[in-house]
Amino acid sequence: MPLHSDIEKIILNEEQLEKVVTDIAGKINDDYKDKSLVVVGILKGGVIFLADLFRRLSIDDCVLDFMAASSYGSGTVSSGNIRITKDISADVAGKNVLIVEDILDTGNTLTYIKEYLLSKNALSVKICTLFDKPCRRIGPVTPDYCGRTVDDLFIVGYGLDYDERYRNLPYVGVLKSGICQWKY
Ligand code: IMP
Ligand code: MG
Repeated sequence: MPLHSDIEKIILNEEQLEKVVTDIAGKINDDYKDKSLVVVGILKGGVIFLADLFRRLSIDDCVLDFMAASSYGSGTVSSGNIRITKDISADVAGKNVLIVEDILDTGNTLTYIKEYLLSKNALSVKICTLFDKPCRRIGPVTPDYCGRTVDDLFIVGYGLDYDERYRNLPYVGVLKSGICQWKY
């Protein structure tokens, strides 16, 4: 696919994404060998990554579920006031849970979701994120599995959006300045 005219540069191309996802899946397969696992994909950004990751998991007792959350308040940055807009349907009590997300930014969303799943008596809750922006973190949350660490850039593609666009790009890239009004 030719480079989209709104994209400045590619961060991970299709081939690199495949390798990153395969490497993460290998680690998860090792860590959860002979254990059961509830994989919770976070809508919407995490779904493309999740679809590729989930097909590489060789864990026998492995189920899939979804959650969605939004932060309310002003601005584009997550405010910390998180609201669950789609709850899980699985009962996670006594289960190992793996949250799969596109990117860990301030950490507000996943801190809230992790606490929520622990309050449902999950045995363990780990975080798998394709990207991590540690420079933006507000709280102490860290990913247990992470594809790539990125600088303070706004990236799109492979599920990641800007104003709901660009999720369908098969690669991950940085938007050209002037297109992204992302304010930190
Ligand atoms: P957090 O609660 O600040 O960690 O926000 C995480 C959410 O912000 C992610 O699930 C994304 O939806 C969004 N986000 C943060 N950085 C980016 C980015 O660079 N590109 C696209 N979405 C982002
Ligand atoms: Mg998003």
